Amino acid sequence: MAHETAKLMASDGHCLYLVARKSEPLEEIAQDLRVRGASSVDTHVLDLNNFDQHEVLLKNILNTLGGLDLVFIAHGTLGNEKVCETSYQETLKELTTNFLSVVSLLTPIANYFEGRLEGHIVVISSVAGDRARQSNYVYGTAQGAKSLFLQGLRNRLTPHGVTVTTIKPGFVDTPMTVSIKKNFLFARADVVGEKIYSAIKNKKDIVYVPGFWRWIMLAVKNIPEKIFKHMKM
Ligand SMILES: NC(=O)c1ccc[n+]([C@@H]2O[C@H](COP(=O)([O-])OP(=O)(O)OC[C@H]3O[C@@H](n4cnc5c(N)ncnc54)[C@H](OP(=O)(O)O)[C@@H]3O)[C@@H](O)[C@H]2O)c1
Repeated sequence: MAHETAKLMASDGHCLYLVARKSEPLEEIAQDLRVRGASSVDTHVLDLNNFDQHEVLLKNILNTLGGLDLVFIAHGTLGNEKVCETSYQETLKELTTNFLSVVSLLTPIANYFEGRLEGHIVVISSVAGDRARQSNYVYGTAQGAKSLFLQGLRNRLTPHGVTVTTIKPGFVDTPMTVSIKKNFLFARADVVGEKIYSAIKNKKDIVYVPGFWRWIMLAVKNIPEKIFKHMKM
């Protein structure tokens, strides 16, 4: 999803600074974005679970670009729920990647934007965070916590001219879901990328992609708990 969104940013000639943990695909994506028209593309190899590198990362970005208008956070893992059920260490790993790393990254970034009285934070969360269910509640917990954190951050930063956009995709056909059998609810990553870019340009607060997920999740959230707890989902 991040690559698809970045393709549209590149065609609009933006300066991009990409962060990922594998250097080879990162360089391939950077080259693709240069060809598509990005004014500049810099790269930084980092496992985002190395929290002590997050402030250094922001300093490097500012030194390289001379400033920063928008941060787009889109990393994550879809862990194995069954393994999490038997291993706290595995659960902690999932919560760390999908939630705590975002909190750590956004701590210096939010302060930077707050001080400048402008900026835009865009983070991919998930519809899975709207209600936890037995098949993926560790992942759902991380996404729900992320959405709540972003809601609080939005409330804090709005008076300081900073926009916080929460993207909540449903099922999307990406490397993350490669092993999941596809059905009609799956969206194409390029279509989702267009919707994310549109949400960014329109400075939205919370966006479901595709939009029909807002209504699905409204229905799911309204199922009474005494019924929901018996449902196999
Ligand atoms: N696909 C869906 O159905 C769906 C639905 C709702 C929300 N989401 C969320 O959307 C976001 C983007 O996912 P995607 O579907 O585009 O999947 P993706 O293509 O697998 O992208 C996730 C990326 O996160 C990177 N990553 C994971 N852990 C990292 C770490 N510790 N440090 C640095 N990078 C790390 C992965 O890097 P590697 O390639 O090195 O593993 C991968 O490039 C995720 O937050 C995901 O939870 C996905």
